[in-house]
Amino acid sequence: MAQWVRLCGLAEAPPVGRVMEAEVEGVAICLANLNGELSALDNVCPHRQGPLGQGWIEGEAVVCPWHSWAFNVKTGLAEFPAHERVELFPLRLEGGDVLVDIE
Ligand code: FES
Repeated sequence: MAQWVRLCGLAEAPPVGRVMEAEVEGVAICLANLNGELSALDNVCPHRQGPLGQGWIEGEAVVCPWHSWAFNVKTGLAEFPAHERVELFPLRLEGGDVLVDIE
């Protein structure tokens, strides 16, 4: 069952090529803007819980600021190292708000 919640206003979302941290209902989210398209990933890096939303974009990936593991912002799959991943939350825009499904 979907649980859509407001993450932030569209005006507060990061600019193209940037990421930011946000939290909603106790869920920490990395909001990424790749070429104008927003993605919402689990903010917690599976390596040692680094904050992905404090990292940066390289190619199509967000790079963890602690030890540079990199996760594709469209799939959540790691580009480095292989076989790791973070959760990708469904996201939609509605009335100037960014909504995510945190179910
Ligand atoms: S905590 Fe993210 S790469 Fe180590």
